Amino acid sequence: MLMQTRNQATVLSKDFPTDFIWGVATSSFQIEGATQADGRGLSVWDVFCKQPHAIADGSNGDVACDHYHRLEADLDLIACLGVNAYRFSISWPRVQPLGQGDWNEAGFEFYGRLMEGLITRGIQVHVTLNHWDLPQALQEQGGWANRSTCAHFVRYALEMNKRFGRHITSLCTHNEPWVMAILGHELGVFAPGLKDRKIAMQAAHHLLLSHGMALRDLRLAGAPMALGIVLNLSPIYPASDSPNDIAKAKLDDGLNARWYLDPLFKASYPGDVLEHLGSDAPVVLPGDLDTIAQPLDYLGVNYYTRNFSSSGNPWDVHSTGNEVTDMGWEVYPQGLTELLCRLHQDYPVKHLRVTENGAAFRDEMVDGAVNDERRESYLREHILATRRARELGVPVDAYFAWSLMDNFEWASGYEKRFGLVHVDYATQKRTLKRSAHWYQQFLKA
Ligand code: FCB
Repeated sequence: MLMQTRNQATVLSKDFPTDFIWGVATSSFQIEGATQADGRGLSVWDVFCKQPHAIADGSNGDVACDHYHRLEADLDLIACLGVNAYRFSISWPRVQPLGQGDWNEAGFEFYGRLMEGLITRGIQVHVTLNHWDLPQALQEQGGWANRSTCAHFVRYALEMNKRFGRHITSLCTHNEPWVMAILGHELGVFAPGLKDRKIAMQAAHHLLLSHGMALRDLRLAGAPMALGIVLNLSPIYPASDSPNDIAKAKLDDGLNARWYLDPLFKASYPGDVLEHLGSDAPVVLPGDLDTIAQPLDYLGVNYYTRNFSSSGNPWDVHSTGNEVTDMGWEVYPQGLTELLCRLHQDYPVKHLRVTENGAAFRDEMVDGAVNDERRESYLREHILATRRARELGVPVDAYFAWSLMDNFEWASGYEKRFGLVHVDYATQKRTLKRSAHWYQQFLKA
């Protein structure tokens, strides 16, 4: 097959409207550290990291980027990039250690300083309520597989609105429910580390249900910010023209994408997937689907690569000849344009937002500099792909690079670096990589 030639076209921020949202993204467990500080409760990830072999380098989130103790300097770092938005998540166990009952004022104080620090610097506040770090105390009662977790989540969402609503530009309920449900409950490679498909599908349903309940109640409470959810989505292609591969690709798209999109936008689960799941399908009570299908102000899309489905041998990621990142993910910017167009065509989305996009590469620090040309190209080509979708009429209004800085990459530990800013974990020194300088210049121009 042909090697993909690099798209050398330039892209300028002035190709986008002046109110386009440009940001960088992080999540609480991946950067904060300070897991024992100031009354924070345990999260499922604290516990999962302790399981033997759960994390590739045997690490955990105890220190991570020590962001909790370096807030002011990190706020300056975000500001120096010239972004107008920052996407981050709240650690639920930091503000409510047990996930129900008492609130932890020290936790609210931290996020208050974070939000005020952003606003002072002219940066919009884009909050995610659940980027995977469920309070462990709720997990002990069944976690997302237990329907009562939905009601606890709604109380947490309402409390965040009560305290910080006026500061928040957009609020996302869940980041990537598929990852939490399937990697966490069916494949067991992420917290909470369960391996049971029926439980996984029930967890997926409760994640969606709690999203809908939270949106409904936030709107009733007059929440002023834009409300949405973030899904991990990739175009899925059949590995060959064989009917079996085509059928497999359709089913995989059903399990990964339509299972979440159809209830959100059409108040129904896809029939082909329900049939495939059989007795593993979740218990859905009357009214649940209407609750899930609350109007969305925006749909967030995390895009990294495309996928292939094969009914036989697993797909060899190197077979296209395209570049592959340190995660083993093919670099395929056109997939982002295709995905955004498909979402616009198949679902009544008001606004689409690229809430994560980025790449892990083996960066080397030489003479105090990280020359991550490949990450720079990756970002440039995906911003071009976003522009292309806009040219085709898709209402995309935001792009967030993943990630502000190198951080705890879940089961991969600290070995995979996604940052625009390099973190030396021994000293916590932050160094802007070439990609960060590129983004800075791009945003300035
Ligand atoms: C996404 C996650 C994010 C990060 C990137 C690489 O699935 O939302 O936290 O780990 O992948």
